[in-house]
Amino acid sequence: MIEAKFAVLRATNATEEQKRRWQGAVRLSRAFNAADKYVFSLPMWNFGIPYILKHYIDIVTLPGENWLWTPGEGYSGLLQGKRAALIYSSAGDYPVGLPSHDKDFQKPYMRTWLGFLGIDDLVEITAAPTLASPEAVAAALARARNEAERLAEGF
Ligand SMILES: Cc1cc2nc3c(=O)[nH]c(=O)nc-3n(C[C@H](O)[C@H](O)[C@H](O)COP(=O)(O)O)c2cc1C
Repeated sequence: MIEAKFAVLRATNATEEQKRRWQGAVRLSRAFNAADKYVFSLPMWNFGIPYILKHYIDIVTLPGENWLWTPGEGYSGLLQGKRAALIYSSAGDYPVGLPSHDKDFQKPYMRTWLGFLGIDDLVEITAAPTLASPEAVAAALARARNEAERLAEGF
């Protein structure tokens, strides 16, 4: 898929198989781009996002479909006027102000990727910690559920 991407983008001698694969990526990208609103629900895996989601992102993020680069203007995202809700979970807690905050590559990654595509109207809900005392986990989940119910009314 990656070889196909560069063969097609650089207009080198893409094989029929590479062109077919590229069309598959374009189809997935267009399905993604067609949405007005997005809901991502993702756990933290080793401080970042799960590789399955990263794989999806690497396939659907395509120049000419949802972002552009020009010599004059550099990068620009093509997905304007869309909203995204991000529901995060993690065993630990990574709030602003704690040393653990610097280890959180889950939320900054999602914000950066969506911002790159032009989606900067984001709402975020964090269900964390999920590995703590039963009381702390119950409180975290109740808080997240409340926020999700409020969000669902206006999203
Ligand atoms: C492969 C893997 C890696 C994980 N890495 C982290 C991590 O770096 N930090 C963390 O706080 N939790 C980590 N967790 C825990 C999950 O984020 C946590 O269990 C979360 O509640 C899972 O979400 P879910 O209950 O919605 O599936 C990891 C879990 C798995 C399976």
